[in-house]
Amino acid sequence: MAEIIDGKAVSLSIKEEIRVKIEKLNSKKINLSLATILVGDDPSSQIYIRNKMKSCKEVGIESVHISMPSNITEDELLQKIEELNRDDKIDGILVQLPLPVHINEQKVINAISFEKDVDGFHPYNQGRLLSAKNYKTLIDESVPIPCTPFGCIKLLEHYNIPTISKRSVIIGRSNIVGKPLAILLLLMNATVSIVHSKTENLSSYTKEADIIVCATGKREILKGDMVKNGVVVLDVGINRADDGKIYGDADFDSVSRKASYITPVPGGVGPMTITMLLFNTLRLGVKRRGVAEI
Ligand code: GUN
Repeated sequence: MAEIIDGKAVSLSIKEEIRVKIEKLNSKKINLSLATILVGDDPSSQIYIRNKMKSCKEVGIESVHISMPSNITEDELLQKIEELNRDDKIDGILVQLPLPVHINEQKVINAISFEKDVDGFHPYNQGRLLSAKNYKTLIDESVPIPCTPFGCIKLLEHYNIPTISKRSVIIGRSNIVGKPLAILLLLMNATVSIVHSKTENLSSYTKEADIIVCATGKREILKGDMVKNGVVVLDVGINRADDGKIYGDADFDSVSRKASYITPVPGGVGPMTITMLLFNTLRLGVKRRGVAEI
């Protein structure tokens, strides 16, 4: 039976470290702020934004939320971002994705100052991730790392799960999770494969894997008969079923019988994503403001 990776607990302990650092900054009259922008009224995006604002409050980061109607023009959104880029009090800018189809998402991401890009989605920051020599450089240089992959790495670190030479299979090739996580695992010296919806014979990869990360948004894409004994499974999936419950991408019952470690859904990778957003806001704020030590 697998050990359950408690993302909630790890997240709480990292949040406490962040809170203490923010308190120190506050005592130097430095107050960090995160700006969030939501276009339209998608209910799940509204929940994500609410949770992000609540978490900011818990650690003492101020949050500024901007809600815009779904029929705003791309230019209006770009202008708002420009305003936030220029605002010296704002340390991080997060535009909740997805955006309405008439708005070019990449153009919006490109418009966010790379110094305030708390998601780590800006092409400049993606390039820094891609060309980093090692993981330590990314941390030392305060490169914003996409929050969900960053959270996955923190969980592996927290549970002392070795990555060197480990066969790691990432299911899903998104810009938000799969691709950046592949780079991070490479920097941790894992041997990495990305498999995706066009991959034939998925289980021929997963059966060989020491570490599997599922990030597809498809319920039960990974089942117990597709993994070997002792595998480590990180489940990024958040799938809401008709019964209102949330399920991951892995079939928890059958996979957990064979795994050595597994993240539950909810309570695994999910809480880490928001925590790493707070951490990126802290890292970028400290760097941009030139704070010597915290
Ligand atoms: N939508 C789903 N995940 C994310 C995320 O990590 N960042 C942003 N900005 N939008 C998202």
